[in-house]
Amino acid sequence: QSKARITAVGSYVPKRILSNADLEKIVDTNDEWITQRTGMKERRITEENEFTSDLCIKAVEKIVQDYNKNLDDVDLIIVSTSTADYAFPSVACQVQEHFNLKSTGAFDLNATCAGFTYGLHVANGLITSGLHKKILVIGGETLSKVTDYTDRSSCVLFGDGAGAVLVEYDEQKPSFISSVLGTNGEGGIHLYRTGLSKQMNGMDLLGNGNMVQNGREVYKWAVRMVPIGLQTLLERANLKTEDIDWFVPHSANLRMIESIGEKSHISMDNTLYSVENMGNTSSASIPLALDLGIKEDKLHYDDTVILYGFGGGLTYTGLIVKW
Ligand code: ACO
Repeated sequence: QSKARITAVGSYVPKRILSNADLEKIVDTNDEWITQRTGMKERRITEENEFTSDLCIKAVEKIVQDYNKNLDDVDLIIVSTSTADYAFPSVACQVQEHFNLKSTGAFDLNATCAGFTYGLHVANGLITSGLHKKILVIGGETLSKVTDYTDRSSCVLFGDGAGAVLVEYDEQKPSFISSVLGTNGEGGIHLYRTGLSKQMNGMDLLGNGNMVQNGREVYKWAVRMVPIGLQTLLERANLKTEDIDWFVPHSANLRMIESIGEKSHISMDNTLYSVENMGNTSSASIPLALDLGIKEDKLHYDDTVILYGFGGGLTYTGLIVKW
């Protein structure tokens, strides 16, 4: 039985818009292709001197403003990102420093697009076990900085943004009902960005620090694996699809979300996503969709929600939560 509750959400995207029309001027593509294959219309991208920590800090500031939350007793900061400002120190340390939080741990985790839900899973575990009381979980990315703008099959997909939630101790009204997570490391080669090593499983890697993906393989994997995970999640919670008010999958591609929904009998009317105007923002996509859902007066107190992250690794984490 969980003892942790999600009590606030905040998000932030950079001001600069990269529309499909803008992309037409950069690579051989067009609005019709991008809309038809991905459902994306535009994405937000950072300025040269704007980094993941800046976006994460602004998302947390929204929590303070909109929910009137005091952060002084936050005892852990978890930032999910695969585009940290530095290899180290972590983005979480920069957030700690900005808000001058005196007694908090801070670390980044990297599970790419599944990272935000991984962070929530970890936060629930640490609060329920009694080790922590108040945790900031943030998903933030500046994917535009590692996107190859000469590769038309990937550069149309990615955007920048950040979303944050506060998870607090609450025995009376816990959020977390069930979880599922898994990894298919053999598929890591389908989506990567080189770091210190330029080889994987004996194969030379491409990209020179930019993201490289075999979009078709990732697409097929997600559309096959996510419905299986959703079934497991529901069984573990002893719930049926009809009991779910909102499905919030990682916003990788609208066609992918539609296909997963169709296989799992979840209507698009019950699905929240951020893909149309923000593109694929990896770790940030789920909290961005949650915040949009609140602002559009869709997501309400006591709703039953499935959050499902999936991506590079390959890796996935799903959670059923009470809002
Ligand atoms: N504009 C116009 N034509 C294009 C473009 C473009 N932007 N990109 C590719 N094409 C062309 C290709 O060259 C190809 O042409 P050809 O048939 O003449 O060879 C044709 O369109 C079809 O290309 P495919 O790659 O087969 O297109 P597909 O339908 O698979 O869509 C896409 C590609 C959108 C990338 C899709 O595979 C996808 O979304 N995959 C999932 C990506 C994803 O979710 N990644 C996860 C990232 S998460 C993370 O962890 C960061």
